[in-house]
Amino acid sequence: MATVASEPKIARPQIRQTNCFIGGQWIPAASGKTFETINPATEEVIAQVAEGDAEDVDKAVHAAREALERGPWATMDARDRGALMNKLADLMTEELDELAALESLDNGKPVRDARAADLPLAIDCLRYYAGWADKLHGQTIPVRGNYFTYTRREPVGVVGQIIPWNFPILMVAWKWGPALAAGCTIVMKPAEQTPLTCLRLARLAQKAGIPDGVINVVPGYGPTAGASIVKHPGVDKVAFTGEHITAQTIMRDASQTLKRLSFELGGKSPNIVFADSDLDAAAAGAHFGLYFNQGQCCCAGSRLFVEEKVHDEFVDRIASMNKTRKLGDPLDPTTEQGPQVDKAQFDKIMKYIGLGQSEGAKCVTGGKRFGERGYYIEPTLFTGVEDEMKIAREEIFGPVLSVLKFKNVDEIVERSNNTFYGLAAAVWTRDVGKAHKLAASLKAGTVWVNCYDVFDAAAPFGGFKMSGQGRELGERGLDAYTEWKTVTVALG
Ligand code: NAI
Ligand code: MG
Repeated sequence: MATVASEPKIARPQIRQTNCFIGGQWIPAASGKTFETINPATEEVIAQVAEGDAEDVDKAVHAAREALERGPWATMDARDRGALMNKLADLMTEELDELAALESLDNGKPVRDARAADLPLAIDCLRYYAGWADKLHGQTIPVRGNYFTYTRREPVGVVGQIIPWNFPILMVAWKWGPALAAGCTIVMKPAEQTPLTCLRLARLAQKAGIPDGVINVVPGYGPTAGASIVKHPGVDKVAFTGEHITAQTIMRDASQTLKRLSFELGGKSPNIVFADSDLDAAAAGAHFGLYFNQGQCCCAGSRLFVEEKVHDEFVDRIASMNKTRKLGDPLDPTTEQGPQVDKAQFDKIMKYIGLGQSEGAKCVTGGKRFGERGYYIEPTLFTGVEDEMKIAREEIFGPVLSVLKFKNVDEIVERSNNTFYGLAAAVWTRDVGKAHKLAASLKAGTVWVNCYDVFDAAAPFGGFKMSGQGRELGERGLDAYTEWKTVTVALG
């Protein structure tokens, strides 16, 4: 693995926003407390960020309620809401390089990925939902009797949005997009590992002219700031992305107020390669589908099923890609893999690597820390993985790929579906019939055929089983942010 930088590094971005953003004001946490956000490439502190808690959340909820019911947002024409969202997307486009660098600094992801994937997808998502703002149609309903009945789609209200650290900017866009289009107001808690870009986007939203109180951001920890949002009676709905265990806690905490909930959780997604596929494309897709974003993807293709007769050849291809993968400084535009987001994730992944070895899988590449500074892990490839091993069942969320062999199409559906997760799956084959048959049989919210990680703001995304509840993106993504109201008028 090469480490030498061949292109100039990107300049370190300025840190401008570190306070809570409540009712259009930048204010320290009521407690005065702050927490450190770390650069995972160097383990150095980047900034001290306001550590919000119940009191700050309460203020934010009141600001959001005020904006929902009395501010300019309450009476704004839907199309004008859309225009403000497009304006935010414009500002993000203008500041794309700066935002990408800040994302890279706080998260550790290669700046080239942030520029090529995170930012363009986030901007596209906001523009897509801007177009929905004036298209939330109700219906007229032919009821019995002398009545006129129609439905209206109204904003669900004040929404709490709790997001993870793996795609901080993109998760903001997935959450704000449908919420703003529907006319909701927002209290967001970014992940404690990566609060900086969310705060920067709040500043851009303010600059775009989104009225004060519509978007509020309270940085802080999950069990304090996060749980306060979930329990607050003034919050109508919670949208959460993260671990399923956290979602279970949120469900319990939300039961008191019977909040609407939507969840986008983890996965152990099967990626199935048949011998009749284009093996070059499949190998590139399998590699990307797992190692992209340091393996920190909810839909990572972490169970790679390869048909027996091409198994060895296929493993060689992945192994050789791993050996030339360029790890290094995320702000170097040639870097392909950065560090894991923090020490906790690094330790968790190293534990799974140890488990894989003790369970009897063969470590073909990687398996070790890379370098002495920063939370880097070599791209790791395990073969000889069996269905019952922990590395084949549990979400590792790191650059660790498990390869499992299969013999034929009959066994593969059952083995693929043998998990409590159901977020994504992929099939690589030239046989169209087989592809569609599998697409129908796999229990997953998304099935990719001869591709992986193809996302579009218009295509719904979410999980079957314990991978989630509800859908984000597309028209379906609006369901979580609207209530249907039925109005019946006696015609006399
Ligand atoms: P997490 O689910 O604990 O954190 C996600 C967000 O939830 C963060 O903003 C966190 O502060 C918040 N949170 C935590 N506890 C909360 C609570 N009791 N109430 C309200 N909010 C709460 O995930 P974490 O600890 O960062 O990562 C653990 C594992 O979860 C990872 O190793 C990975 O396997 C999985 N994960 C999956 C993600 C996905 O995209 N599906 C994203 C992040 C993590
Ligand atoms: Mg956690």
